[in-house]
Amino acid sequence: MSRENAPPAAQTPPADATVPAGDPTLRAAGRLRVEGREVAYDVRALGPDSLEALDAVQQEAARLIGDADWDLFHPHPPEEIQLFMDGEGAVFGLFVDGRLEGYCFLGLPGGRLESFADLLPEGSGAVPAEERSAVAHIDGVYAPPYLRGRGLQRVMIRVRMDHALARGCRHFLANASPRNTPSCRNMTRAGMAVRQIAYMHPTPRGAKLRVLLHKDVGRPVTFDPNVAPVAVPAMDEARQQDLLAHGYLGCDFKRDADGDPLVLYARALAGRPENAA
Ligand SMILES: CC(C)(COP(=O)(O)OP(=O)(O)OC[C@H]1O[C@@H](n2cnc3c(N)ncnc32)[C@H](O)[C@@H]1OP(=O)(O)O)[C@@H](O)C(=O)NCCC(=O)NCCS
Repeated sequence: MSRENAPPAAQTPPADATVPAGDPTLRAAGRLRVEGREVAYDVRALGPDSLEALDAVQQEAARLIGDADWDLFHPHPPEEIQLFMDGEGAVFGLFVDGRLEGYCFLGLPGGRLESFADLLPEGSGAVPAEERSAVAHIDGVYAPPYLRGRGLQRVMIRVRMDHALARGCRHFLANASPRNTPSCRNMTRAGMAVRQIAYMHPTPRGAKLRVLLHKDVGRPVTFDPNVAPVAVPAMDEARQQDLLAHGYLGCDFKRDADGDPLVLYARALAGRPENAA
């Protein structure tokens, strides 16, 4: 999988561009108990006036990633964030007691932003050519360490999916390190399945292994109940490629007794006809 070898994009704007990217009415808010006190959180679309604050949070996110986890996180370049703000997506801030502390990105590729659909295996058919305009990227996300494990990533996935659905999107695509167990589990719980594994994001230290996850709202994947899922070490690219080539999809993520990350692959049944009950 390489962006350089991807077929040329033939894209049209999302199906319902009447819903503005970054629609301020789509937001999530609630209260959490953190370190003995109650805090209010709010996930809402950011405008260009928040770019500086967003950059500071992104830098802090990169700074806090430990050396051993260098490949887990990949900061978004400003040009891409500009595209999100400029009609090909939306940027959401996670505010805690009114302070910007986290964020998440939604990509709505419409010709300028490269579509993650190009990264699907050749001949995959998961995103038919005529549905490419209905693709949404559930892209980068960050929650600060003191707020982790409280379901905020799940909230941020939901806000972006709701936003994309309101725009008429039906295909959700995301990529993540296969050893980022919390992040990948949240995505499979949101109905996404791994359809590809490959090295992406070249850096001076090397490229970063990524799984590509996908969900088609109109054609849910079902797994063969008669074939046991296979657990594979998260960084074993060759074994996962082999399973994908044999009709398996990544369906869950967990850690073994030693804490090492695993990806579970299950055999997918042939897709159900569209709009089947
Ligand atoms: C990945 C990340 C966004 C997860 O955010 P989060 O708000 O903690 O995620 P959630 O609370 O929604 O996750 C829920 C699940 O993950 C587990 N989890 C998440 N972070 C955890 C942590 N630090 N410690 C223990 N469990 C954690 C939760 O226990 C929960 O699992 P469960 O439902 O089985 O109990 C956050 O850890 C982060 O910002 N990491 C650094 C940046 C990054 O890796 N971004 C993702 C790039 S793809």
